[in-house]
Amino acid sequence: TTGGTLYERIGPEALAALVQTFYTYVAADPDLAPIFPADLTVTAEKQLAFLTGFMGGPPLFHQRYGNPMLRARHLPHEITPRRAQAWLECMAAALEATPQIAPPDAQELHTALARVAVHMVNTPDHR
Ligand code: HEM
Repeated sequence: TTGGTLYERIGPEALAALVQTFYTYVAADPDLAPIFPADLTVTAEKQLAFLTGFMGGPPLFHQRYGNPMLRARHLPHEITPRRAQAWLECMAAALEATPQIAPPDAQELHTALARVAVHMVNTPDHR
C-alpha cells in the first residue's frame, strides 16, 4: 500500500520477520559474528523496538530502554567500514528474503539505514 509511514506500509509482522532473518545472516557472517553475542534474542528484540520507532511507529526502544544514543551504544564494539558494509549487505539480503515488504519500501528502508550505518563506524579497517 502507499501513504502513511514506512512502519504502516511494512507492518509489524513483516518487520519482525525481517529482523529475525537479518540476525540469521549476521550470525553467519564471518566479519560480524565475532562482535555479536552468541544468543541474539535480546539484540533482535532491541532492534525490532528501535526500527519500529525509526520507521515512524511507536517509540518502543525509547520506552523500554531509554534514549537510543546509537553511536554511544556502539562504541564498545569495533565497528569498521568493512563491518558497516557487511551489516548493510545482511540487511539487503534480509529485505530480499522478506517478500511481504514491497521493493520500494525495502529500498527506502535500506537507504535510511545506510545513512545511519556510516555514523556507527568507530574503528578503521585493520591490516
Ligand atoms: C546493538 C553492531 C549498525 C541498531 C549492536 C551490537 C553490535 C552492533 C555488536 C551489540 C549487540 C548486543 O550486545 O546485543 C552493529 C554494526 C553495525 C551496526 C557492526 C554496522 C554499521 C546499526 C544500525 C542500527 C543499529 C544502522 C540502527 C538503525 C542497534 C541497536 C542495538 C544495536 C538498536 C541495541 C543497542 C543496545 O544494546 O541497547 N549493534 N550495528 N545498529 N544496534 Fe547495531
